[in-house]
Amino acid sequence: MKIDILTLFPEMFETFFTTSIIGRATSEERVRLQAVNFRDYSKNKHHKVDDYPYGGGQGMLLTPEPIFDAISDVTKNDNPRVILLCPQGERFTQKKAEELATEEHLVFICGHYEGFDERIRKHLATDELSLGDFILTGGETAAMVMIDAVVRLLPGTLSKASSHEDDSFSSGLLEFPQYTRPVDFRGLKVPDVLLSGNHAKIAEWRRTESLRRTLIRRPELLETADLSEKDLKIIAQLKTEPL
Ligand SMILES: C[S@@+](CC[C@H](N)C(=O)[O-])C[C@H]1O[C@@H](n2cnc3c(N)ncnc32)[C@H](O)[C@@H]1O
Repeated sequence: MKIDILTLFPEMFETFFTTSIIGRATSEERVRLQAVNFRDYSKNKHHKVDDYPYGGGQGMLLTPEPIFDAISDVTKNDNPRVILLCPQGERFTQKKAEELATEEHLVFICGHYEGFDERIRKHLATDELSLGDFILTGGETAAMVMIDAVVRLLPGTLSKASSHEDDSFSSGLLEFPQYTRPVDFRGLKVPDVLLSGNHAKIAEWRRTESLRRTLIRRPELLETADLSEKDLKIIAQLKTEPL
């Protein structure tokens, strides 16, 4: 996969590109990441990339030309998904990360100041994605979050031991509770079933606890999760128990 990030602050990505899972995916050449400073495409003698909004109002907007030119440079030979980071966009989810992980080339456009000239939104972006209902200073941190979620899904990026299939949302449910050593920490004990060595029983306990946690914390996820007859019976039983 190739990922290009159009930004005014490429230095923000230096550590991100080389650390942890992203660093490994890069060094193993599963992904080629590039931060492109679209200020380099400004034809203005002061390299300006923003201007006042027509009609008046507060703040500055990113002008179209440098971003249009940077996009045509990074998309010379293909037709990638062009993602505009934008608080007004569709909310980013694990499902969206899974969908993006199947693409060969992604381009992220990081906004700044008061936002973008509308022509960037209308004529360049294939997707507008938001991290949530809050306003960030720029799209860079949102791009990092989304790229992290996508790259860890690329085949071979995670080791089998840390596979993402049980992660919350991957299965449509929240993940079950997890424990590690010691068995007894200041009187707080690990559930016996996890020490039993009985894999079928452990899998059953995990499924039940995953359903319980989802029912308590995010019941709306149960409406779209892939549930078996057995799951539905467990949920019916859980609903009769004190939460
Ligand atoms: C200060 S914000 C501009 C907000 C804009 N005035 C509005 O009300 O929609 C600057 C940039 O940060 C990024 N940004 C801010 N909040 C975001 C969010 N929740 N999700 C994704 N990107 C965001 C976008 O790229 C945006 O153009």
